[in-house]
Amino acid sequence: MTTLLTGIGLLATQDPELGEIPDAALVIEDGRLAWIGAAAHAPEADTAIDLGGRCVLPGFVDSHAHLVFAGDRAEEFAARMTGQPYTAGGIRSTVAATRAASDEQLRANLSKLTAELHAAGVTTFECKSGYGLDVATEQRSVRIAAEQTPEVTYLGAHVVPAGIDRGDYLDLVCGPMLAACAEHARWVDVFCEQGAFDVDESRAVLRAGMAAGLAPRLHANQLIAGGGVALAVEVDAASADHCTHLTAADIDALAGSSTVATLLPLVEFSTRSPYPDARGLLDAGATVALATDCNPGSGFSTSMPLAIALAVRELRMTPAEAVHAATAGGARALRRDDIGRLAVGSRADLVALDAPSYLHLAYRPGVPLIHRVWLAGQKVR
Ligand code: NIG
Ligand code: FE
Repeated sequence: MTTLLTGIGLLATQDPELGEIPDAALVIEDGRLAWIGAAAHAPEADTAIDLGGRCVLPGFVDSHAHLVFAGDRAEEFAARMTGQPYTAGGIRSTVAATRAASDEQLRANLSKLTAELHAAGVTTFECKSGYGLDVATEQRSVRIAAEQTPEVTYLGAHVVPAGIDRGDYLDLVCGPMLAACAEHARWVDVFCEQGAFDVDESRAVLRAGMAAGLAPRLHANQLIAGGGVALAVEVDAASADHCTHLTAADIDALAGSSTVATLLPLVEFSTRSPYPDARGLLDAGATVALATDCNPGSGFSTSMPLAIALAVRELRMTPAEAVHAATAGGARALRRDDIGRLAVGSRADLVALDAPSYLHLAYRPGVPLIHRVWLAGQKVR
């Protein structure tokens, strides 16, 4: 069964060899791309869909999200907008609601957010635990996340929960909790930050996770220019996430490594914080990803298009850089080469915009431009 998508006004492949193809077409076969080129040269297929001049991109790759939780923190957001600072401590209120929720409630919340992500053009997303912070609830969190994505991250080291000694909690995170979660997860992450875990604690958690077969990624330099980025590079983490406060040495270290700098501008927007130095990172040669960081505390948005608009308006990325970061950059941050770009053989994860160009993602901020989404060749919207 082959499907021809034709009438593509602009195909922004994100593939370094194919680049941008005007007046394009592509063929989907068995969930993969079987042919890409000029519409005038398109082969025959079993069915054909004319996209009427719309722009087509790879589906967005959201490489950082916290989607297994219950409750919300709208009041905390409102207080922030009148001047309260964001702190790591707010996580504990979501922990109480998450522990009290049933599997069914957590699953329903995650399904709702997954549908939102699809509607926003996201075809692959990463999902962290981190709102359970006891063995049973962390294990439930990674198990439920794994029902909806292969990119599951064990984040037992989000904060130290109330009622337990810090050393005892770290022993739990590196011992029984890790053992209960590892089979459902691909990644290990730590909130390496003032108010959460210091560099030595974070290193110990990442090393324990790596010894259990998980690959490292890290929340780094969100609230201060601490040692998170240096640690991420030291352990060859796939990604250092946030990067809100960077030193020149951090930028050099990222540029000289295979660790992706994942920027999360919806968090700076929602916490009214300064935006990260995307230009410094890109100009130094670092690989940059854009992700939503959707979570109930620091930024409760699934809108990758809004993240792209902020990256252009506030982080001074070009529209092409921002789209690349939200697709190919996210795939790099997940160390995947089957997604995030459109080439023969890659997975048929596609977004058709209700616009002739991806420029409109930033040019028309807040406007729902996602026309259709295909996941492995199947229409999800
Ligand atoms: O990525 N920074 C750590 N974790 C989340 C926020 C968690 C929360 O406040 O609930 C983040 O911003
Ligand atoms: Fe996060």
